[in-house]
Amino acid sequence: MKFDTPATTNPIDQLKVVGQPVDRIDGRHKVTGTAPYAYEHHDVAPNPAYGYVVGAGIAKGRIRSMDLAAANAAPGVLRIVTAENTGKLGKGKMNIAKLLGGPEVDHYHQAVALVVAETFEQARAAAGLVDIRYEDASGAFDLAASKDSAKKPEGGETDPDADVGDFDQAFAAAAVKLDESYTTPDQSHSMIEPHASMAVWDDDRLTIWTSNQMVNWAPGELAANLNMPADKVRIIAPFIGGGFGGKLFVRSDALLAALGARQTGRAVKVALQRPLVANNTTHRPATVQRIRIGADRDGTITAIGHETWSGNLPDGKPENAADQTRLLYAGAHRLIRTRLATLDLPEGNAMRAPGEAPGLMALEIAMDEMAERLGIDPVEFRIRNDTQVDPENPERPFSQRQLTECLRQGAERFGWSARNPRPGQVRDGRFMVGLGLSVGFRNAPTMTSGARVRLDREGLVTVETDMTDIGTGSYTIIAQTAAEMMGLPMSMVAVNLGDSSFPVAAGSGGQWGAASSTAGVYAACVKLRETVAQKLGFNSGEVEFRDGGVHAGNRSVPLADAARDGDIRVEDKIEFGDLSKRMQQSTFAGHFVEVGVDVATAEVRVRRMLAVCAAGRILNPKTARSQVIGAMTMGVGGALMEELAVDKRYGFFVNHDLASYEVPVHADIPHQEVIFLDETDPTVSPMKAKGVGELGLCGVGAAVANAIHNATGVRLRDYPMTLDKLLERLPEVA
Ligand code: MOS
Repeated sequence: MKFDTPATTNPIDQLKVVGQPVDRIDGRHKVTGTAPYAYEHHDVAPNPAYGYVVGAGIAKGRIRSMDLAAANAAPGVLRIVTAENTGKLGKGKMNIAKLLGGPEVDHYHQAVALVVAETFEQARAAAGLVDIRYEDASGAFDLAASKDSAKKPEGGETDPDADVGDFDQAFAAAAVKLDESYTTPDQSHSMIEPHASMAVWDDDRLTIWTSNQMVNWAPGELAANLNMPADKVRIIAPFIGGGFGGKLFVRSDALLAALGARQTGRAVKVALQRPLVANNTTHRPATVQRIRIGADRDGTITAIGHETWSGNLPDGKPENAADQTRLLYAGAHRLIRTRLATLDLPEGNAMRAPGEAPGLMALEIAMDEMAERLGIDPVEFRIRNDTQVDPENPERPFSQRQLTECLRQGAERFGWSARNPRPGQVRDGRFMVGLGLSVGFRNAPTMTSGARVRLDREGLVTVETDMTDIGTGSYTIIAQTAAEMMGLPMSMVAVNLGDSSFPVAAGSGGQWGAASSTAGVYAACVKLRETVAQKLGFNSGEVEFRDGGVHAGNRSVPLADAARDGDIRVEDKIEFGDLSKRMQQSTFAGHFVEVGVDVATAEVRVRRMLAVCAAGRILNPKTARSQVIGAMTMGVGGALMEELAVDKRYGFFVNHDLASYEVPVHADIPHQEVIFLDETDPTVSPMKAKGVGELGLCGVGAAVANAIHNATGVRLRDYPMTLDKLLERLPEVA
């Protein structure tokens, strides 16, 4: 099905099942421990061997020697895979550094060996006996120091620079201006399930049970590494314990499991040990951002400039932290710059809302600072500079943009009018109390997505698609879609996901998953409805599917009757035309935060949070809310805790485990409220939905920072806002 004109009324609009807060259909599986994750497919390979990854002990250089004798002689060891003994490997397109390094080492903890043994404990013990000698080379590990050598990135789809009007002149002439720099640190996805894979070879065919967001991207990547045809690789990923962008691409666990299995003739399981994940896989790159805003005295922005710097391995991508500034606020004169330095740290890549998440952490503090300089309420300042068109291409409108409504409703609901605009004035016991807000913004991309649906003689509809559920609720919203389309209760729909033998779906990334994958199921169900109607002798134009039956005029037939002579299977996919080019499809939020700052210790406690989101039709308010409160929690982590500390001498992330890389726990998070504005966007898909999984994170960090400022009068511009940065600057109030 082509989607190139805005949707009109369709069966989804009945909202009998779609749009309802349906419980997760996989919920019972998960809470009873019966949902198999990548390391847990015990039934398919009863006697697997276990691999343990050895990571490089230097950031850059080469392996001079590797002595495997002691490890090979250790109890239970079956095989040690290294680049030297595994034959020539190819390379995929999606990983910058080789997934199995050696003799060259490209980054710290790059995999250089896999010890395969009868048990996990034996593999781990033997891995400690692998004796590697290195020749260390010097590298660049410090973004601030490398910033001046940063270059304009090449080869992207769009120009990373933009100039509209005459920024320099307009900024110089502005009555009120701001020119400040902000920094965000390297961050780690910290999903609960580490990267894990089990590989089984059957002759020249490889099957990998793994934990991966994009099932369709994986076979080609593995095949390229293994120099084999992609159609001989099958990926199975029914349950995924979080990804946040860290599992978009296959990583060393998958390749090494395949190599280990090939060399031992056994099924081999590999899970990256937690202390390896931060340096072996990808992370969100640190940024330095300079923001300049000029405005008239009445608060109209006349000049807005955002420059951002990040670093990556050679051939890596930049963190596009200035991109949202191209679209978020009006302003006649504009300047956007993205610069990329070469660093020898592990590969930087996508983490939940790449670009916008760190970009808004800076921009939305800058907007707060500007409002303060102008003496205008920060809600009003943003609304004054709202735009309903793409500021760089004014003939191109937003398809839907309810940002003002998000802010107005949020302000009302949060009690914003009671906020004292003078910082440091409100006290509650030992806490200084402040309110802050920010705007959340994230685009709503769509991707081609397919599905197969089958109707059987019991009247059960089964959906199969290689879409993934990374904890988001895909199973449930896909079942809701099929139930709505076929006029069935949820109990008559089954959903199978995450298998590369199923039709190719959008996968889970870039918050495109919900809107795109359900639209693919919609397309397949349209076809199933036509086939069923025809089979039952209906004229398909007038047929209604409801209550398990097919109805037209005064004739009603049970849906199951259509499959009396055998299952009906149909397949289709949704392909998106140029609507997303003709208009800007984005999602919006207003984030409101109240903090208390301890007057003696400077500890920041978040006391209340509210997000008001405008993101098209909400397919399931329960799973969508769960996405947003999870994202808001992550935003608190980004504001106050998260930072991969770089050892700038040796080039690695020091705090590479969950004991020292801090994320919020229950006790850190107060009551969170989420409101979804009533919205349908018929230009995005027949579902009229967008995504919320990344929107919920965008801007939260700045709302916390702005609340800290309101509480204390201290303006922090470097994340995370730990108490050491705040303590010395606190006012004398105790
Ligand atoms: Mo997302 S960072 O594309 O999983």
